Amino acid sequence: MSQLSLKGKRVVIVGGTSGIGLATAKAFIDEEAHVTIASRSAGKLAEAQQVLGADVQGHELDFRSQEKAADFFKQVGKFDHLVVTAGEGAMGHFSDLAVDDARRAFDSKFWGQYVTVLAAIPYLDHASSITLTSGVYGVRPPKGASTLAAINSAVDGLVRGLAVDLAPIRVNVVSPGIVDTPVYAGMPSEDRQQMFSGIAQQLPVGKIATPADIAETYVYLAKNEFTTGSVVLIDGGAHLV
Ligand SMILES: NC(=O)c1ccc[n+]([C@@H]2O[C@H](COP(=O)([O-])OP(=O)(O)OC[C@H]3O[C@@H](n4cnc5c(N)ncnc54)[C@H](OP(=O)(O)O)[C@@H]3O)[C@@H](O)[C@H]2O)c1
Repeated sequence: MSQLSLKGKRVVIVGGTSGIGLATAKAFIDEEAHVTIASRSAGKLAEAQQVLGADVQGHELDFRSQEKAADFFKQVGKFDHLVVTAGEGAMGHFSDLAVDDARRAFDSKFWGQYVTVLAAIPYLDHASSITLTSGVYGVRPPKGASTLAAINSAVDGLVRGLAVDLAPIRVNVVSPGIVDTPVYAGMPSEDRQQMFSGIAQQLPVGKIATPADIAETYVYLAKNEFTTGSVVLIDGGAHLV
């Protein structure tokens, strides 16, 4: 099997300031890659740089804007691997969720990733990889996840098309199940723990994921030269139950 070394490679992680993206930045640093992270909040960027170390470049970026994404990649210049973990979803029963909220979620998680890839292309080369993020709700939605089911399926489909259109650049997507990240920080901690343990009991693996569990999948996809157009479900078996 052919494995690329990531030592000295330049990796850009859009969404690298929190949760899965932050853990992914750490995982690439462990591989001795040079990491650049980007997200909207200057505060989150500063905190992430504290955690990751001074060598990590940080840029403010709202990835929903084509113009801002173009400026961002112009500042970054040539690089090797793109990872996108940024994205905000919307939960709610189909009959209750406002259409504007569903559109906002598409603008973020689908169109944000689309626009980011488009802006990055001139700065990548034939040996590069792009890894996006979807989620298991694309194949196994619980009640109240129809919008996220649609977004995640759209991202998975986009990746299959991009793997053909952008070849030889490899394009893949990580599709996580429930991961303990700050995305759930808004919930009262007791409710959150109850939700996590309820889900853990149902899963074949008996636990929910940490961000580090998911991060190594992005590293694998950047390294493995024979993987493209793949959706890697890393969901503790959620799609089976
Ligand atoms: N956690 C889960 O259970 C789970 C399950 C399945 C799929 N996922 C997917 O995994 C991805 C990461 O989720 P997470 O749990 O790690 O979330 P998180 O901890 O909230 O991190 C999201 C990151 O995206 C950035 N971001 C959000 N909107 C952005 C924008 N418009 N422009 C640039 N950056 C933006 C955030 O930073 P700023 O706020 O500074 O912009 C933050 O760094 C998402 O696509 C999510 O849907 C998560």
